[in-house]
Amino acid sequence: MSPVVEPLSWMLGTWLSEPPGAGTFPTLQPFRYLEEAHISHVGQPMLNFSFNAFHPDTHKPMHRECGFIRLEPDTNKVAFVSAQNTGIVEVEEGEVNGQELCIASHSIARISFAKEPHVEQITRKFRLNSEGKLEQTVSMATTTQPLTQHLHVTYKKV
Ligand code: HEM
Repeated sequence: MSPVVEPLSWMLGTWLSEPPGAGTFPTLQPFRYLEEAHISHVGQPMLNFSFNAFHPDTHKPMHRECGFIRLEPDTNKVAFVSAQNTGIVEVEEGEVNGQELCIASHSIARISFAKEPHVEQITRKFRLNSEGKLEQTVSMATTTQPLTQHLHVTYKKV
């Protein structure tokens, strides 16, 4: 592994939501989802990730995204680049401190025919909890709602 990404090594692995993830938003009925997270490296100074969500009962594929997590060498500054199946491409930036990564959107692009409401801001927190499980919390602001939590998921390493 490149020493540049060593501060993010706690994220590496294949992880499966346990319990199912929880989706919320003021405009939505609360929902549950399964998600597989695969976070790896190929020796380059970055991590590769894919997050694939599934319906908890039917296992039908739902939200999917993949991208890269980069660290500025010799700092704790992180850039997170993601392409989503909903037609959003985004860059988030933030900091890793110990086993916690907090990032916020720096730029968000979307396809020209994306459905409203549009996402205007995204924040995420990843942490390795005291049980060795990875957690991800995602909040978003849309054209109709202020920054509010959309997702919380705890993953167990598989
Ligand atoms: C709805 C964004 C990840 C499941 C939405 C909406 C937005 C959005 C803008 C519409 C909200 C509204 O109508 O007011 C995002 C973003 C994500 C993300 C930016 C990642 C950063 C996920 C994931 C799941 C998910 C991982 C897991 C299955 C849903 C569902 C709805 C929804 C079920 C409601 C139905 C629908 O519109 O398809 N999301 N989402 N989202 N999201 Fe997400």
